[in-house]
Amino acid sequence: MTSFKPLVFSGVQPTGNLHLGNYLGAIRKFVDLQESNDCIYCVVDLHAITAQLVHGDLGAQTRSITAAFLASGIDPKKHIVFNQARVPQHAELAWIFNCVARIGWMNRMTQFKDKAGKDRENASLGLLAYPSLMAADILVYRATHVPVGDDQKQHLELTRDIAAKFNNDFSEKIGELGVGVEMQVGDETVNGFFPMTEPLIDGPITRVMSLRDGTKKMSKSDPSDLSRINLTDDADTISKKIKKAKTDPEPLPSDIEGLKGRPEAENLVGIYAALAGTTREQVIADFGGQQFSVFKPALADLAVDKLAPIATEMRKLEADPAYIDSVLRDGGERAGAIAEATMKTVKQIVGLLDN
Ligand code: AMP
Ligand code: TRP
Repeated sequence: MTSFKPLVFSGVQPTGNLHLGNYLGAIRKFVDLQESNDCIYCVVDLHAITAQLVHGDLGAQTRSITAAFLASGIDPKKHIVFNQARVPQHAELAWIFNCVARIGWMNRMTQFKDKAGKDRENASLGLLAYPSLMAADILVYRATHVPVGDDQKQHLELTRDIAAKFNNDFSEKIGELGVGVEMQVGDETVNGFFPMTEPLIDGPITRVMSLRDGTKKMSKSDPSDLSRINLTDDADTISKKIKKAKTDPEPLPSDIEGLKGRPEAENLVGIYAALAGTTREQVIADFGGQQFSVFKPALADLAVDKLAPIATEMRKLEADPAYIDSVLRDGGERAGAIAEATMKTVKQIVGLLDN
């Protein structure tokens, strides 16, 4: 019996500045996972044109996300770092998945509903099909694990639905060609070409909230810059934003239960735990009963210590776009070789002639 080789894949869109939510929800996990896994990290430029077609400088944005990956410690030699548009098999597999997935599945996606807003008829067809391209990003490498923030959970469930339907619809052909891999799905052992990819969402904070409103997600699109810490912020700015963060007047509670109903306090404790590489329980053990006037400066120092060097390194890397392009080119070639092999088999399975 063969089984899928563990492989980590994730993607980040080149739209707007990266912030602490992207860092703790995604990039920090990318860095940790590379220790004991093969990893592919992609700047998803084709996704960036789904919500807004024309961008000021998409190339510069793509380089900037790449610089953030490298500055955070991702090793592009041991692993693969590239931008999606370099590997046309993503779009090719997405087309096949458009024919596997059902319109109803896409219509139910909360990210689509949020981004399309009231005027759904006027959203791009690409925005509706976004999750199908995301499934293709992952499955063109037959990746088994995907580190993401909490907001991507639904898209990963859909990725599994697409893989399961493809495996099931083509089960006979997959068996005939002998290209299936045995896997456990619930109680059953099934033979399929695509794995049931697992999300990796855990950690002390899976959803970083706005510094101005603990009930809203920290986001690139919030009009207030004080609501987020950008990965490009310098030490003074990071410090200032944490000191200005909204809180309630109570001191920190003495146990974790006491964070319930205090979204701002809960957010800051989660951020501290994630940045320090510890648990929320430990942070409460250290700071329980203390005022924010004590906790905030400690958090500001920690954040500056962990984040300011990334900003400095990003600026250095961004000053050398030719180097960044060479990383993306090399990554694209290596990713392309894997994706090409997958697509050859997919075409055989579907019956598309390619010889
Ligand atoms: P995006 O910028 O939307 O492409 O997101 C890139 C990654 O960051 C995804 O894995 C998201 O789930 C994650 N992410 C975005 N915002 C947050 C947040 N506020 N908290 C945690 N993770 C986030
Ligand atoms: N949809 C993801 C986001 O908005 C980005 C993304 C695209 C992605 N393709 C992916 C994430 C594949 C993980 C795996 O954050």
